[in-house]
Amino acid sequence: MDYQGKNVLVVGGSSGIGNGVARAFLDRGARVCVWGTRHSAAAYAGEDGSDLSGLDYACVDVSDFDAVAGAAAPFERLDVLVQCQGTVIYGRGEFAMEGFEKVVAVNLGSVMACATRFHDDLAASQGSLIILSSNAAYRTTLGNPAYNASKAGLLGLTRSLAQAWVSDGIRVNGVAPGLVDTKLTKVTVEHPDRLKWALSMIPARRLGTPADIAGAVLFLASPHAAYVIGQTITVDGGASL
Ligand SMILES: NC(=O)c1ccc[n+]([C@@H]2O[C@H](COP(=O)([O-])OP(=O)(O)OC[C@H]3O[C@@H](n4cnc5c(N)ncnc54)[C@H](OP(=O)(O)O)[C@@H]3O)[C@@H](O)[C@H]2O)c1
Repeated sequence: MDYQGKNVLVVGGSSGIGNGVARAFLDRGARVCVWGTRHSAAAYAGEDGSDLSGLDYACVDVSDFDAVAGAAAPFERLDVLVQCQGTVIYGRGEFAMEGFEKVVAVNLGSVMACATRFHDDLAASQGSLIILSSNAAYRTTLGNPAYNASKAGLLGLTRSLAQAWVSDGIRVNGVAPGLVDTKLTKVTVEHPDRLKWALSMIPARRLGTPADIAGAVLFLASPHAAYVIGQTITVDGGASL
């Protein structure tokens, strides 16, 4: 798992799982750029789950597909693109079309937009694209139809892009995390009853960490996974069992 000399872009790498993924590549010698929504890296200073030290940063709102299409390449050569962007709306906001479309745009549409933007770069490097879905893709998520539909959609997008682009030399795979303590999941992990229930459903009896998820991403991007095409690996402490 030596990534020296490799260039990695982590979309949604400014916090949570994506930040853990970015730091895992950085620790193994890669040069890493992360994308997030704030105007500068300094705007994340002191935020729990956001350590941007040593990382390059660019602000790109990925729900703006034109902005994605016109975004500057972070490096002359791109070896790995990891897509960790994600959002959710609570309080039944995803049952209104405005909320539904917003979540689907970030969680599904933007993944296609970023993949398309960097297709030629990844083909040139014979690189790897890794898409973050969720173990929620395989079941229901109470109150979040857009989150669920978008994450289920990513399973199909991962398979379809993998099949279409393998002949271009791009390997496409995915990771489906279980519950990880990030700003996306505060509504569960900071609520004692919900957390207790969630833990009771996880055979490993603990939440996942960004490092747990990064392990699978590092594997999928590596030569160890040279013959793994179009798969989404579930990393959830056994919750989906
Ligand atoms: N945490 C879990 O339990 C869990 C479980 C299964 C799957 N996942 C998936 O894992 C991925 C990472 O989520 P997380 O839990 O680490 O949540 P997070 O800490 O909230 O990270 C989400 C990332 O997406 C970025 N993002 C959101 N909207 C964006 C937009 N319009 N344009 C650009 N970037 C945008 C955020 O940028 P800012 O930092 O600027 O807000 C942040 O970097 C998501 O795809 C999520 O669905 C998470």
